[in-house]
Amino acid sequence: MNMPTNRVKKLTGHIYSPWGIQNAGREVKTITDAEGIFFYDDNNKRYIDFSSQLVCSNLGHKNPAIVEAIIKQAEKLQYVNPSFITEIALESIEALLSVMPKGLNKFFFSTSGTEANEAALKMTRQFKAPEYKIISRYNSYHGATSAGAAFTGEARRFISEQTRCATEGIVFAPACYCYRCPFNMTYPQCNILCASYIDYIIQKEGNIAAFIAEPIVGTNGRIVPPPEYFPMIKNICDKNNILFIADEVMSGWFRTGKAFAMEHWNVTPDIITTAKGVTSAYTPIGITASSEKIFNFFETTPFSHGHTYSYHPLASAPIPAAIAEYKRLMNAKIIQKGAKYLKQKLYELSDKHESIGDVRGIGHFWALELVENRKTKVSFDKNKEQKTMTAKVAADAMNKGLFVNPWKDALIIAPPLIITEDQINEAIEILDNSLTIADEKTVSTGIKASRSSEF
Ligand SMILES: Cc1ncc(COP(=O)(O)O)c(C=O)c1O
Repeated sequence: MNMPTNRVKKLTGHIYSPWGIQNAGREVKTITDAEGIFFYDDNNKRYIDFSSQLVCSNLGHKNPAIVEAIIKQAEKLQYVNPSFITEIALESIEALLSVMPKGLNKFFFSTSGTEANEAALKMTRQFKAPEYKIISRYNSYHGATSAGAAFTGEARRFISEQTRCATEGIVFAPACYCYRCPFNMTYPQCNILCASYIDYIIQKEGNIAAFIAEPIVGTNGRIVPPPEYFPMIKNICDKNNILFIADEVMSGWFRTGKAFAMEHWNVTPDIITTAKGVTSAYTPIGITASSEKIFNFFETTPFSHGHTYSYHPLASAPIPAAIAEYKRLMNAKIIQKGAKYLKQKLYELSDKHESIGDVRGIGHFWALELVENRKTKVSFDKNKEQKTMTAKVAADAMNKGLFVNPWKDALIIAPPLIITEDQINEAIEILDNSLTIADEKTVSTGIKASRSSEF
């Protein structure tokens, strides 16, 4: 259906758009349909979804098995008070147990990644009382409500602090960001100072209850740590008897080639929080998975947390179907093949475009970080132009039929895990074209693009 522009403008003027100024007359696309890796606007124009929307549509759009599961559940039981148990909750738990890292077998269901982290925070603070401080990292994103925002190591935290709704007791550690090392060091000579420094923070702060991190930083850059980083962190946490929370909201669900990214380093945290891909975003679900040790504490102490929509039956409906789909795609090697090809094509692209300073990632989770100058790594947007260079490139790609989300200096390359080689070729061809906009403003250095996730 083609919506008349004035109606769209009028009605969108009544909606708060997230994380930005409210421009009632803003141009916004009306999306009317989606299937597989494609979505369509009201002019029936087709777009390749190269960012899985907000890195959540992992299985693409209109997956028949998931749609059927939702319909069946809608016909049967949509909602009951979460103190009851439902068949879909039992099936979801069974499915979760088949993929969760061993030892993380106690679950709390909510409806978003933020809420999954909020539950983790309350769990931790009850379990660890009187210790209450949490170490988080700069360049992290953990959510929009007070606890999630308080953990967040970038600018989306600032307003929460100003409005005094941030939770007390969050301490920030340097990010593990090898392309722009906060200590200005180089791997491996750095001896992973960003990990050992966590021990120093713990000693100096006292009262630390937990450490929280995205295993691979998501929105803020798809930053892959060196192989020693998380095993070191886990040792430091264990030695100091503090909990390790892995926020796998974005990095979970085979986005990096494993069910959960922490599996790349054989490290099992005390708590995993996740959302997004658990239902492939067909319905909103957040999950907080803890160890038995934490759960057992609440056998005698009331767990002070819950929502009207905890274990929501209709929202839970896609969980077993999505997990079965992930397993099918892994068994058929579709995810592994796509990831290998995507990496090859992104490396080729970075050989061609001088505006790509760093190409990094893993699985279907990549960043192209754009720079004005590969030698100095100076950002295009040092002058805080209204529209960042990544936004300009992304806008051009969108005109050509490719949706790729920009975030600060990096493009988010995170297509659905079902993407084929031909579809990758089509997307890369568009990006190849659009990146010339950035190349034109780039200082030529003769230096190759960095590949900071190759260790
Ligand atoms: C790592 C991480 N944690 C938490 C969140 C918050 O999840 P939600 O937007 O579902 O509340 C996000 C969202 O992008 C995220 O990437």
